[in-house]
Amino acid sequence: MIPPYNKRVEALRESPTRAINRIVEHMRKRGIDVIMLSAGEPGVPPPKEVRLWLAKALEEESMRLYSYTPSPGFLELREAIAMDIKDLENVDVSPEQIVVVTGGQNAIFSTFSTILSPGDEVILMDPTYFGYLNMLPYFDVKLVPLVAPPERGFQPDVEAVKEVVRRGKTKAIVLVSPDNPTGRVIERGAAKAIADIAVDYGLWVVYDEPYKTLIYEGEHVSMYELAPENTISLYAFSKDPGIPGWRLGYVYGPAEVAKRIALVAEATTYNPPSVAQYLVLTYLKNREVRKRHIEYFKAVYAHRRDVMIEELRKIDGISFHKPQGSMFVLADVKRALQAKGYDVLPCVESLLV
Ligand SMILES: Cc1ncc(COP(=O)(O)O)c(C=O)c1O
Repeated sequence: MIPPYNKRVEALRESPTRAINRIVEHMRKRGIDVIMLSAGEPGVPPPKEVRLWLAKALEEESMRLYSYTPSPGFLELREAIAMDIKDLENVDVSPEQIVVVTGGQNAIFSTFSTILSPGDEVILMDPTYFGYLNMLPYFDVKLVPLVAPPERGFQPDVEAVKEVVRRGKTKAIVLVSPDNPTGRVIERGAAKAIADIAVDYGLWVVYDEPYKTLIYEGEHVSMYELAPENTISLYAFSKDPGIPGWRLGYVYGPAEVAKRIALVAEATTYNPPSVAQYLVLTYLKNREVRKRHIEYFKAVYAHRRDVMIEELRKIDGISFHKPQGSMFVLADVKRALQAKGYDVLPCVESLLV
């Protein structure tokens, strides 16, 4: 007889991008030429100056690059992150409020492990980053997806959020800006309204912002500035400076939350990768390289976005909202697919089946 598994693990599902990867692998084996546009894989490597610094550092005959590090990351890196947030967003965050983690996915997992209890309700937008949909069932919580339609530029429906929150079961509101997969940048008015709801009802806002330096139109709104007691901000260095395989990111929020998230991170990964921390430290401290790099990759991705939407416009039955940020275009292909006899489910439903 096979012993039973943890019920929470049984609730986990493979992400759609991993499933697409497998399909593509099969197609390629059959000799089919496939262009992969499924995952948010960055196409711009870290700046050359930073890579050269690392090459030099690897020549050192010391354990510096290979040792354990403090669980929440090197203090010097957390100071550099605080300085970066101040410089780019004019927001004051202390190193004690920052926990360096092993990538964005781990930032999400450590945060939810810290704030969620079974039975809590979690509000998220529909559509949203699929990583939330296949991870949240692990925490035995109730997902409340609220439609943010393209007609409203994918902006959250503040009244709908209020209506759900009034039922009294909400623990957290998840917002991604600039958004994956819609490319929507949250408007200051909507962000402020949600911040106010969170403060009034004592809720967490989990604000996922790995594309905050990748905005083509509009401004990045700091949710932390609007609701510093209630916001947990998540960041990944996967897209900027482009090290997804090296697994590095950070979380910041009230010091009491950071302390607890650091304990979860310590229990699960012990410390974030040391080489990635050194690379990012070099990148963030070299302000001139940092700023030049942001301008460079923004221009690269803006060009790609423009090419993509120009090509999509040529296809009958496809509609989309021009993304203002991130590296995605969410196209509604329903009419085009239905014209070919396919059935299409709404985003969240299709990912939860
Ligand atoms: C909105 C959002 N959050 C989190 C993540 C996960 O980040 P990472 O790839 O560093 O795990 C991603 C990755 O694409 C993302 O788009």
